[in-house]
Amino acid sequence: MELVNGKVIFENALKGKYGVGAFNFVNIETLKSILDSAEENKSPVIVQCSTGAIKYAGVDALVAICKAYASKMTVPVCLNLDHGKTFEDCKMCIDAGFTNVMIDASHLPYEENIALTKSVVEYAHSKGVTVEAELGVLAGVEDEVSATEEDAKYTNPQQAYEFVKATGVDSLAIAIGTSHGTVKFKGEAKLRFDILEEVEKLLPNFPIVLHGASSIPQDMVALAEQYGAKLKGSNGIPEHMLREACSHNVCKVNVDSDLRLSFTAGIRKSLTENPENVDLRKYNGVGMELIKTVVKNKMDNVFGSSNRA
Ligand code: G3H
Ligand code: 13P
Ligand code: ZN
Repeated sequence: MELVNGKVIFENALKGKYGVGAFNFVNIETLKSILDSAEENKSPVIVQCSTGAIKYAGVDALVAICKAYASKMTVPVCLNLDHGKTFEDCKMCIDAGFTNVMIDASHLPYEENIALTKSVVEYAHSKGVTVEAELGVLAGVEDEVSATEEDAKYTNPQQAYEFVKATGVDSLAIAIGTSHGTVKFKGEAKLRFDILEEVEKLLPNFPIVLHGASSIPQDMVALAEQYGAKLKGSNGIPEHMLREACSHNVCKVNVDSDLRLSFTAGIRKSLTENPENVDLRKYNGVGMELIKTVVKNKMDNVFGSSNRA
């Protein structure tokens, strides 16, 4: 199948009340594991590259590999730019064949975020590409902030409503307490479902995106540590919270750290257990199998996207 944009994927997810995983990839191994899992589980899927991944592998190569695999698949695949920071980042990806782009101008003042997002929406829509924007600041677990400062970081639902109307964006990432990386909470895991519900009331049937949504499976942490990794304090978003989020308007759930973690755990295990092996397909293969297991669990048991394609 040809790559699809976000429109149909999100419409179906909202109707069916399930979430679609948006998984980061940087090479053939990560991409193929995600896509194989999606095809086997009959799940729609979003695959995405950061600007860092594009620097690492090259934009045209990433698009070509993704298109080549997707052309042999029966489930819808959307290719997204993750955290584009400038109009030029987005234009480069749109021109190269991405079908959805994120313009992350959440660090800019509100009016500037609106202006930049609007300019990307205009260009993207003229090429049939859908756009995600972000409002609010994702929590940083190391940040020492007061309660008022913390409140200012969460997305303001009324502002989210105005932002969507002003920009014409197709989906919106909001800040409700998730954060990027392998350490998400200092104490108990807590998400602001009240904010999500308020946004849902103001923007019914509008696709919401959760960044920083890895669960950091403790069996993968234990496996990686058994083979030498040091991942003290790692924790993620509990699966039941993600299930709840997907029962609301959250239809794109961003996951990178869980794949990095499982791939690394598999490679560490394989290299340690087979010190004589220098065939990288063998140890990469072990990492790929673990990515597939992690992705399958999310599609089947967390996001509910299996058998929806
Ligand atoms: O949100 C960030 C993603 O996990 C991508 O990370 O910029 O290191 O590729 P990266
Ligand atoms: P994690 O670090 O929780 O996997 O988040 C990934 C993400 O939000 C990519 O945009
Ligand atoms: Zn993110």
